[in-house]
Amino acid sequence: MCGIVGYAGSLEAAPVLLKGLEKLEYRGYDSAGIAVIQGDKIDIAKAAGKLQVLKDLTANGEKVPGHVGIGHTRWATHGEPSDVNAHPHLSNSGRFAVVHNGIIENYQQLKEMLQKKGFSFISQTDTEVIAQLVEYFYQGDMLDTMIHLLNVLEGSYSLGVLSADEPERFYAVRKDSPLVVGLGQGENLIASDVPSLLAHTQEVCYLEDREIVIIASDRVRIFDTNGDEKPVRSTHIDWDVSAAEKGGYEHFMFKEIMEQPQSLQKTVSPRLKDGGIVLDDFHITREMLQNTSKIYIVACGSSYHVGVVGKYVLESTTRIPVEVDIASEFRYRQPIIDERTLMIVISQSGETADTIAAMREGKAQGARVLAIVNVLGSTIAREADDVLYTWAGPEIAVATTKAYSTQLVVIDLLALKFAELLGTMPEEELAAYCEALANLPAQVEDVLADKEKIQYWASQLYNKHSIFFIGRNLDYAVAMEGSLKLKEISYIHSEAYAGGELKHGTISLIEQGTLVFTLATYQPLVEKIKSNAEEVRARGAYLVSVAVAGDKQMAAVSDVVFSVPKTLPLLQPSLTVIPLQLFAYYVASQKGCSIDQPKNLAKSVTVE
Ligand code: F6R
Repeated sequence: MCGIVGYAGSLEAAPVLLKGLEKLEYRGYDSAGIAVIQGDKIDIAKAAGKLQVLKDLTANGEKVPGHVGIGHTRWATHGEPSDVNAHPHLSNSGRFAVVHNGIIENYQQLKEMLQKKGFSFISQTDTEVIAQLVEYFYQGDMLDTMIHLLNVLEGSYSLGVLSADEPERFYAVRKDSPLVVGLGQGENLIASDVPSLLAHTQEVCYLEDREIVIIASDRVRIFDTNGDEKPVRSTHIDWDVSAAEKGGYEHFMFKEIMEQPQSLQKTVSPRLKDGGIVLDDFHITREMLQNTSKIYIVACGSSYHVGVVGKYVLESTTRIPVEVDIASEFRYRQPIIDERTLMIVISQSGETADTIAAMREGKAQGARVLAIVNVLGSTIAREADDVLYTWAGPEIAVATTKAYSTQLVVIDLLALKFAELLGTMPEEELAAYCEALANLPAQVEDVLADKEKIQYWASQLYNKHSIFFIGRNLDYAVAMEGSLKLKEISYIHSEAYAGGELKHGTISLIEQGTLVFTLATYQPLVEKIKSNAEEVRARGAYLVSVAVAGDKQMAAVSDVVFSVPKTLPLLQPSLTVIPLQLFAYYVASQKGCSIDQPKNLAKSVTVE
C-alpha cells in the first residue's frame, strides 16, 4: 500500500526521493509525487500512473531542486487515482505539504470543521484534511502543531510533513502504520520500509506509535506527545543493497523462489543445536504449555495458509486443539479467549492491519501472543510476547514465496519444540524430524533444479480459464497456497478443494479438459486422494499431479507428474509447494502479466 519517503542531506533531494520510491513500488500504487523545499517555498510534482510519469515530469528530479523533501506512492482509498488526489497535499497557503499512509477515520468531521473556518479543498482524499489542519494549528511552533495533530486524528497513519518556515528539516510521525528512520552520515531519511533506505544507510530507528520525529541532515530528534525528547534508538540492519535488487533475474518473484534454499538454511540451521531445538526470544515454558487449553493461529492470505498447515502439524505433535482464523474474521467473531489461550500470529510484513487488530484483541482478552514475523522491528514483532523471526531477507514481490516457506519451517520448529517440552513425541522421532528439517534446503534445491519441466508444462497449459487444486490434510493446506499463487499473479480463476469434499457440489464444474492439480504427497492419505483423482479424471479432467518421486500409482492416473523428494510427513508441504510456485510464475510469465506487482494488489495491507 502507500509508500512514504523523506530526505534531508547534502544531495539533491528529488532524485533520492524518486529512487527511494522505486524501492517501494512493490507495495502497490497508482500515483506518485514529491515535495521539496527551495528557499522558503515548497515545490510539488505529482502524477497519476507509474513512477516513470513523475520521473519524466521532473526530468528525474532535476526540475525540483532543494535538499529537503518528502515523497509518496499512493494506493487509492479515498478518491480515484488522479493527479489531484496524488500526494503530497498542500495546505491552502502552500506553506505546508503532507504525505500520508493509512486512513483518517474522522476526516469528514474534520473537513466540515475546517470548511466552516474558511479552508477550501481540491481533492477527495482524507489526507488533504491533514495539510489544512497543520496550517490551522500552526502558531509558529511545528512540534506543538504535530502534537495538536496527533490529538485530533483518528485512524491509522504515518506522515511526512514539510513546513516552508523550516527549510532545513521535516517532520514525521506514525500510528499503526509503518515508518522507519534511516540514520546516515550527513543525511537522514524516512521510509515506509527498509529497502528504500539501504542505498544510504544500514542504521535505522523503528519509531513507536505517536512518536514525533524531526529530521535534519545533521540530526534526528524524537519527541513524545508531551513534547519531551526521547533517545534515538539505532538498530543495525544486516541486509545489504543487493538484497533488494533483482540481481540479474527478470522478476523479484523468481529471484525469491530461487533463494528459498538459502532462506530456509538461515531460518532453520541456527535453531537446530546438539540434537535439540533452540528458539531465540522464546519464553514459553513446559508449565505454560501444560496449562494451554487452546491455540489460535491468526493471519491473512498466504500467512493464513501457513496457519492451516500449522493446525495439522501442531495438533499432531502436541494434541492441543488448534483453531486457524482469517484475521479479519477473528476480530469480529467474539472468539473465546482466556489466560489459557495461546495465540500464534503469522505475518511477513508484521504490519498487516487486520492481523495487528486481531493480535491486540487477543492480548486484551488475556491470550499470550507468539508472532512469526519477517520484518524486524515491525508492529507485530514489537507487540507480541514472543517473536520467532523468519530469516527470509527482504521480500519484494507482492506474491510471497520465500516468506511463506520460511514461515512453514518456523511452524515446524515450534511444533517440535512444543513436543519436546511436553514430551508428546518419542525422542527418536524428534531427532528424525530435526534431521529431516536440516535436509530440507537441499531437497528444495533438487525441486528447483527441475524447473524447466514445470516451465514446459506451463507453456502448454497457460491458456486455461479455470484450474482446480485438490489435496487432503497437509496437501489440502498446500493446495490453498498453490491456488492463491496462481490466481493472484496469472489472473486465472482457481479454487482449492479438500479432495473428499469435491463430490459434495464442486465436481459439477469438472468437464472435458478441466485442469486439476492433484497434490498427492501426504503419504498417509495417498490412496484416498488417488481415488479423488480418478473421480475427476472419469469426468474428463486433465490431471497434473504433484507426487513423491517414484510414485507409480499416481503416475498411472495422471497426465503429467511433478515429482518432489520424500521427507517426513509433517514436513512435506515445504517441498510440495515449490512446483506450484514455479507453475504460477511460469504461467504468469507466458501470459505477460505484471508478476511482481499484480493488478489491484499491495504487498503490505496496512488498512482494514
Ligand atoms: C499472497 C500474499 C498475501 C499475504 C497477506 C498477509 O502471496 O503475499 O496473501 O500473505 O497479505 O501479509 P503478511 O504476511 O505481511 O501479514
